[in-house]
Amino acid sequence: MHILICGGTGCKASESSDIKEKLNYFLNEYDLEDEIQVVLTGCFGFCEKGPIVKILPDNTFYIEVKPSDAEDIVKEHIIKGRPVHRLLYKNPKNDFKVTSATNIDFYKKQIRIALRNCGFINPENIEEYIGRDGYQALGKCLTELTRTQVINEVKESGLRGRGGGGFPTGLKWEITRNVEADQKYVVCNADEGDPGAFMDRSILEGDPHSVIEAMAICGYCIGSDSGLVYIRAEYPLAIERLKTAIKQAEEYGLLGEDILGTGFNFKIELRYGAGAFVCGEETALIHSMEGLRGEPTVKPPFPSVSGYRGKPTNVNNVETFANIPVIINKGASWFNKIGTEKSKGTKVFALAGKINNVGLIEVPMGTTLREVIYDIGGGIKDGKGFKSVQTGGPSGGCLTKKFLDTPIDYENLIAAGSMMGSGGMIVMDEDDCMVSIAKFYLEFTLEESCGKCSPCRIGNKRLHEILCKITEGKGELEDIDRLKMLSDVIKDTSLCGLGQSSPNPVLSTILNFEDEYLAHVNDGKCPAGQCKSLMRYDIIEELCTGCTLCFRNCPVGAITGERRVPHYIDQSICIKCGVCFEKCKFNAITLT
Ligand SMILES: Cc1cc2nc3c(=O)[nH]c(=O)nc-3n(C[C@H](O)[C@H](O)[C@H](O)COP(=O)(O)O)c2cc1C
Ligand code: SF4
Ligand code: SF4
Ligand code: SF4
Ligand code: FES
Repeated sequence: MHILICGGTGCKASESSDIKEKLNYFLNEYDLEDEIQVVLTGCFGFCEKGPIVKILPDNTFYIEVKPSDAEDIVKEHIIKGRPVHRLLYKNPKNDFKVTSATNIDFYKKQIRIALRNCGFINPENIEEYIGRDGYQALGKCLTELTRTQVINEVKESGLRGRGGGGFPTGLKWEITRNVEADQKYVVCNADEGDPGAFMDRSILEGDPHSVIEAMAICGYCIGSDSGLVYIRAEYPLAIERLKTAIKQAEEYGLLGEDILGTGFNFKIELRYGAGAFVCGEETALIHSMEGLRGEPTVKPPFPSVSGYRGKPTNVNNVETFANIPVIINKGASWFNKIGTEKSKGTKVFALAGKINNVGLIEVPMGTTLREVIYDIGGGIKDGKGFKSVQTGGPSGGCLTKKFLDTPIDYENLIAAGSMMGSGGMIVMDEDDCMVSIAKFYLEFTLEESCGKCSPCRIGNKRLHEILCKITEGKGELEDIDRLKMLSDVIKDTSLCGLGQSSPNPVLSTILNFEDEYLAHVNDGKCPAGQCKSLMRYDIIEELCTGCTLCFRNCPVGAITGERRVPHYIDQSICIKCGVCFEKCKFNAITLT
């Protein structure tokens, strides 16, 4: 029997390490410490319900576990064989408790390839990875397959880059392999700068060896003995686990000199990013690794031809790499049966926003947005209505209800006006103002723009100013056309992908929610009630009893009035905090 505890960042922040300690303590108390193994794993995906504890082999799934629950888990479940009822997940559709993880709707439509080991193994123990076919693919490549055979297998699998662009992985390896050079590099892009995204972090925290193994396979294929992982310094747990994994792989002869006695050498080093979104762009990333400013340069030359230190460099995303060992072990024809015609395999998404089941999911390409949001995500929080889903992070677009049945793949999302991106998926409800959402994303790109080229540096600033004007109720009808025109110019003339995609949230919200823009500019109203400048609190004289509650709670002294006399709000002082509205017991305050 095994007890698995989520040791992902989310659950660790909710004391999962203490749960482990307590479980060990009670197992000790009952002399069970030699029989039951307690394992701290990577993220189970269902972060909304963390900390998660899973008992194997019966697959019992406990949610929202606290250290104080450890005694009951040991006494009831382990000793008496009875599940601890109060810790089981309750199916919201029928209120029945669900014992096995496989019967939880959140997991039913998922296929876990990149996340296959997250939540199953102790990421700090190489033997657990080896126990689940780890390093078998590397062994097979080095001893049974030629470089060309491996590249062909990856090409045939149809795997495309999961970092956003969707470039065919096998083709990239082939291009890098074909460039003659005395030194080549394999780079793993673990920058992960999209707001709300945590796919790559979770893979590195939960299964670092899968990425290490894939990087070594890539090194073998392209003719490189040197791998670099560019990872943001804000990911301390992922860094720690990667370091441990690299050290263990070296000790086991799976990294370093003469790997598995085949004469192949490959080492991996880490490089730390300071958390700039633009440094995820491959040329900026390479400059950052070289100690230069993290600024992109024009392509071509592509890194495959001239990258790190001017040498051919194969850059792949964490999730792209995590798929490789499975493709080699199970074969391209197994992998390419999953997914759609042009997008094979699965995609990991970080589900966030106004959704019931926030977490990390992996679904086959071709799954619809509706299945993701309603079947896996459990629908919209607090029974509110769905308004939009943002895919592709700050470079993506906001899609409406009419796209809910769109099968997710690279082409379909682009055709719908968004993009796959690296896997951030943020769900919005009826209370979200789409003009403010566009403004929010633009604030992000403005902040993150490296400033090297004028369209992005200056154009985005102007876009932001126009959006501010609109949300402050000072917009004109012509501003909507100005936004469209300026967006097109920025897209066409910016140097790198950041600028080229930064107007997407603006364009997609105008396309799909033009009525909201018109309400702001024509009627001076924010239909979602989010734009403070367009809101107004007033006291209805006839209903006000003069109880003074609002007067006493207003943080800026905007309310005047005597006891038992109707009060009055000075609009020039009011900051629209809504406190008076919430406090008034007589419904005497209106919001328009
Ligand atoms: C502004 C910007 C940010 C990016 N951030 C990332 C990132 O965080 N992680 C990533 O893998 N790719 C990112 N990319 C894409 C990379 O440039 C590159 O295409 C990718 O790492 C290649 O790996 P893949 O083929 O496996 O997707 C970004 C691109 C742009 C334009
Ligand atoms: S588009 Fe923006 S981020 Fe890219 S090079 Fe130009 S200024 Fe820098
Ligand atoms: S809390 Fe309501 S009833 Fe009381 S003074 Fe304010 S507006 Fe009037
Ligand atoms: S909304 Fe806030 S600031 Fe305005 S009057 Fe009410 S309590 Fe005061
Ligand atoms: S961090 Fe624990 S389930 Fe995701």
